Amino acid sequence: MSDVVMLAYGDERRHLELGTPVDVLDAGSHKPLLCKLEDEDGAPAGDWIVKTPCMYAHGASSLLREVIGSDLAAFAGLPTPAIGLLRLPDPPAATDASDVGARAAAVYRADAGQLAFCSRKLAAPTLEPSVLRRPGRPRNQLVHDAVFTFLFDVFMWHYDRTWKNPNLLLLDHRLVVIDHDRVCHGVESVDETGLAPDYTSFGHEAALVDHVLRPLLKRQVAHIAWHEFRDRMASLDGVTLDEMAARWPDELDRGRTGATVDLKADVVRFLRARVSVVDRIVEEARSVVA
Ligand SMILES: Nc1ncnc2c1ncn2[C@@H]1O[C@H](COP(=O)(O)OP(=O)(O)O)[C@@H](O)[C@H]1O
Ligand SMILES: [Mg+2]
Repeated sequence: MSDVVMLAYGDERRHLELGTPVDVLDAGSHKPLLCKLEDEDGAPAGDWIVKTPCMYAHGASSLLREVIGSDLAAFAGLPTPAIGLLRLPDPPAATDASDVGARAAAVYRADAGQLAFCSRKLAAPTLEPSVLRRPGRPRNQLVHDAVFTFLFDVFMWHYDRTWKNPNLLLLDHRLVVIDHDRVCHGVESVDETGLAPDYTSFGHEAALVDHVLRPLLKRQVAHIAWHEFRDRMASLDGVTLDEMAARWPDELDRGRTGATVDLKADVVRFLRARVSVVDRIVEEARSVVA
């Protein structure tokens, strides 16, 4: 499992080279490419989901969020696909004349020379939410991952895991979190006086109403995982966080126009604040689902 899934922060981040486009994933909102990629030495590196700046209204900074979300999920101990970075060739790589080839060519042209975010393609189905409604006691591992996923989303101001769109895969009885381009929602916004949001506030409770895991958690408020998540995130000290942030590519800290957005600095401040109030966040999250 571990060469395709990150289970702990610090797993190697791969540098990949473009191979062949295999598909365009039309199911979600950003239509990432599914590509066969290669290692730096040209050896086959398997199938990866490839996301590039042109797919996002917020450009490269959405890819920065993907990296941040993956690192934080791995730090929390939630399985998440291994990630890699790829520089799209400039001039753009040639493709064949198939429909997939033509669509990949448009992406390669739009983002020639840019960094792309790559997520290791897992042979795992998207979580079918009805699985969570099966009668009987759910597996302990599933409950553990559900608590951690819900708390991760609350902690990260991440509101993109609904019944219609769970953004979860089911792999060997574990939940795997994917699709982090919306973590730290709104951390960069400022009010008319130039003030950032209060990072110690719980977040947007209303946006959690449709969270896909909420009904399952209603019966699990006494599970040990609530405490385990709190203890884990409380251990994210300033040194570790700074080391983590140093690996987030500055090149991705840019918006649609290519101008710097300084998201990294905001996220570091945000995470420091979240860690300082993690006890309260967990207690409020528990009362929200109860
Ligand atoms: N690492 C992965 N392994 C397997 N399937 C994936 C992976 N990443 C994404 N997918 C599939 O592709 C779909 C779209 O990817 P996602 O990251 O959710 O992007 P979008 O922003 O388009 O929703 C997902 O719903 C899932 O079915
Ligand atoms: Mg998605």
